[in-house]
Amino acid sequence: MQVPAEYKDALARKYPESITIAIAKDARGKHNPISLGWFMNTSHEPPMFAISIGLTRHSLSALCEAGEFVLAFVSTTMTEDMLFHGTQSGRDMDKLAEAGTKTQPATMIDSVLLSDAVANFECKVESEHPTGDHVIFVGRVVASHTNKDPSVRGLYTLGNESFDGVVPG
Ligand SMILES: Cc1cc2nc3c(=O)[nH]c(=O)nc-3n(C[C@H](O)[C@H](O)[C@H](O)COP(=O)(O)O)c2cc1C
Repeated sequence: MQVPAEYKDALARKYPESITIAIAKDARGKHNPISLGWFMNTSHEPPMFAISIGLTRHSLSALCEAGEFVLAFVSTTMTEDMLFHGTQSGRDMDKLAEAGTKTQPATMIDSVLLSDAVANFECKVESEHPTGDHVIFVGRVVASHTNKDPSVRGLYTLGNESFDGVVPG
């Protein structure tokens, strides 16, 4: 049976939530990562993802400038990096260098892959959709990569800054 609740209390029941990091090159040529819980697959053919970016984020202008991004699915070994990229802004900082996040060049776009992620997807932005205090960017996947170690697992957030590794599937 359902009972009325405050929006934030009802939302708190949806966890766990899978976490990604999107990386887009900003106007100064820096590859800027942002941790994201709000993303989704939107199409298999062609493969596409949507990501939702807050109006206050440095990543918003980076995504508009670059028109492309990498979407990396965070692994359980990346909790500290994910928290850093999810709490610090790249407006005045090179976040990847500061955190020492391991990267490797993307193959089809001007961006970087996160080496320790479960998987990385290179995406070209196809459309943008304002939605309240966020903007949704829809990207078409132009290259996909997986961690060569099949035992690497995805990181999920349980909400309230609690993070836990959950075996996918
Ligand atoms: C687990 C987690 C999930 C987050 N999900 C989102 C999200 O979906 N969209 C968003 O705009 N910010 C999200 N954030 C907040 C941004 O990652 C954070 O504001 C970041 O510092 C912005 O960096 P930037 O200014 O370099 O773009 C999330 C943070 C965490 C820790």
